Amino acid sequence: MPRRSNSGLKGGPGSRPPWLSCGLCLVIFLSQVALLQGHPQCLDYGPPFRPSRRLEFCSDYGSFGCCDQHKDRRVAARYQDIMDYFDLRGHELCGGYIKDILCQECSPYAAHLYDAENPQTPLRNLPGLCSDYCFAFHSNCHSAISLLTNDRDLQDAQDKDSARFCHLLNLPDKDYCFPNVLRNDQLNRRLGVVAEDHEGCLQLCLAEVANGLRNPVAMVHAGDGSHRFFVAEQVGVVWVYLPDGSRLEQPFLDLKSAVLTTPWIGDERGFLGLAFHPQFRRNRKFYIYYSFLGRRKVEKIRISEMKVSRADPNKADPKSERIILEIEEPASNHNGGQLLFGLDGYMYIFTGDGGQAGDPFGKFGNAQNKSSLLGKVLRIDVNGAGSGGRQYRIPLDNPFVSELGAHPAVYAYGVRNMWRCAVDRGDPITRQGRGRIFCGDVGQNKFEEIDLIVKGGNYGWRAKEGFECYDKKLCFNTSLNDVLPIYAYGHAVGKSVTGGYVYRGCESPNLNGLYIFGDFMSGRLMALQEDRKSKKWKKRDICSGSTVTCAFPGLINTYSKFIISFAEDEAGELYFLATSYPSAYAAYGSIYKFIDPSRRAPPGKCKHKPVPVQTKSKRIPFRPLAKTVLDLLKEQSEKAARKTSNGTLASSADRASSKKLASATHSKTRQRGPGRKKKARAWFPASQGLRKKSLYPRSGRIRLSAQRRPAGASLP
Ligand SMILES: *[C@@H]1O[C@H](CO)[C@@H](O)[C@H](O)[C@H]1NC(C)=O
Ligand SMILES: *[C@@H]1O[C@H](CO)[C@@H](O)[C@H](O)[C@H]1NC(C)=O
Repeated sequence: MPRRSNSGLKGGPGSRPPWLSCGLCLVIFLSQVALLQGHPQCLDYGPPFRPSRRLEFCSDYGSFGCCDQHKDRRVAARYQDIMDYFDLRGHELCGGYIKDILCQECSPYAAHLYDAENPQTPLRNLPGLCSDYCFAFHSNCHSAISLLTNDRDLQDAQDKDSARFCHLLNLPDKDYCFPNVLRNDQLNRRLGVVAEDHEGCLQLCLAEVANGLRNPVAMVHAGDGSHRFFVAEQVGVVWVYLPDGSRLEQPFLDLKSAVLTTPWIGDERGFLGLAFHPQFRRNRKFYIYYSFLGRRKVEKIRISEMKVSRADPNKADPKSERIILEIEEPASNHNGGQLLFGLDGYMYIFTGDGGQAGDPFGKFGNAQNKSSLLGKVLRIDVNGAGSGGRQYRIPLDNPFVSELGAHPAVYAYGVRNMWRCAVDRGDPITRQGRGRIFCGDVGQNKFEEIDLIVKGGNYGWRAKEGFECYDKKLCFNTSLNDVLPIYAYGHAVGKSVTGGYVYRGCESPNLNGLYIFGDFMSGRLMALQEDRKSKKWKKRDICSGSTVTCAFPGLINTYSKFIISFAEDEAGELYFLATSYPSAYAAYGSIYKFIDPSRRAPPGKCKHKPVPVQTKSKRIPFRPLAKTVLDLLKEQSEKAARKTSNGTLASSADRASSKKLASATHSKTRQRGPGRKKKARAWFPASQGLRKKSLYPRSGRIRLSAQRRPAGASLP
């Protein structure tokens, strides 16, 4: 666990980001609902998408909307069926109208056009039409109505009563009726890109995927096609999660008795890193990084190799541990903890500077001392033993192999306490960025930094912290020649960086190339975006989306404050691991998946078939604890309904929320849209397939704010 030496968990109100859970926020969100009722949403309740092939019929929605080629063809076939009833003049008069109306299923605002929200009006068979358009359609083509819908009311109004007909098709919000919705610049200007709030903060939503974890420090996949993920707790227990969202009852690994940690908040010792061998499928090997107490009570970190049991692919073989490296830790903090394999097949180890404040050991600290293994990025070859009793080999092209006095495993130096590093998979098409290693290096008193690791690089510590001098004498030495961070932030923003990942997944295409990271102390989420021309990195803030933005089934917009780690699943989707109470013994940790509600991938694009794995232990189904945005809206509307029945007038916000609510809670039972034969399968955010949604969370969830710690907890 990262923590600076001198400050404990302060995180006063000033460092608390504004979106963290609070009652007042909800009131604010709800009043926004009234102002802006809609968001792009399809009839299956998922976000719209860019079709992978162009649409031949509903071409207006060919670049962004709710139809793929398959659905477009169905709409076209239906159009043909209807047009068979018309003569040539009928074609000329009504063809355009009928096409327009049928194609509204493909509109990015389809859910609104079909008015899923309003439980008082009859279910729409036809999209909401603006009155001018509706009257024109009625006067020219009213005989077509019975071909378009079997709704009795609409059919009755067909012949005579245009006013009644158009009243039935009226949408309460004029901006969203067809064709106005296409002309509304505010609705369409930023269609398909990540929603932003008025300050330019990117509005993302989350899906809760796991909870009840004790300081979850790492979540990794084995790269074996099984799409399992392995979640390590700081106490030294690793759990297996299956693609269906369940967790195996028996742990994958239990090293509690060997791992050194305590229940103290912010204790940085413990089980810190886990990485699977690139050829894991073949050799069953994985690697672990943990603190332990050596002989004569000397604290050390150990990096070991282990193997998965032959008898059970979801269990480590407890007898298989092969120690690769042990490093003495002169102080209890700054233990590093990241392990990863580069694309070169070598293992990278990220150690801390040995602890205390200001890297005080030796003449100029450990980090600048190339004979020390502390404060380094090490690179080793784990596929064999080396000379001199080493349990690993040194890659021949390591940068300091021929430097006298330097340890040959050193790959980069000047590191303080890198907490979470990740390899960029590269752009899915161009592969741009592939292989880059990003790290968050926790700062001392002033700056937190994000670094791109290069061979032989000196990351400056303790001469520098961020872009500034820390030790003036070392800093002004011309031979320092350090690599600057790609980004650094001051302690007004956060006090302990948690490095993240570059998003390269499939489900949220807008996020491709964004490096998403956060801060452990302040709970802020941030992103860096590279300007490819200038090579400069631009920081973007990420905020939990508003209630409107995240009003999709299964999504939440709050999270536990202390961001411990980030993770990528086998398919490349991004997650983070956080807790509301950062003690290695407290089971308040959760895992959240990032979802961009503004645009999803076209249907079918992100499907993957996990390689089945035999399981011997019981599967514990996932039970969400966080309330989804729709749950919250539902509660609000029920409250409002109670108020109304007590004779109080519901506010417009309450009405809006009750409408919104209906749109999602009825998703399973409603069929709308013309010619809909099959029930639309409701969109779900998780790639793991459909999960049962529990509307009411279990009680006892501690949420977010540091002010609501369990009683009796004292902070260092
Ligand atoms: C550098 O580190 C080595 C190994 O820990 C130590 O023996 C040596 O004294 C250090 N050098 C300086 C100049 O501090
Ligand atoms: C500058 O750094 C080099 C290499 O670390 C060292 O040998 C030299 O003594 C330093 N110079 C001063 C003035 O500190």
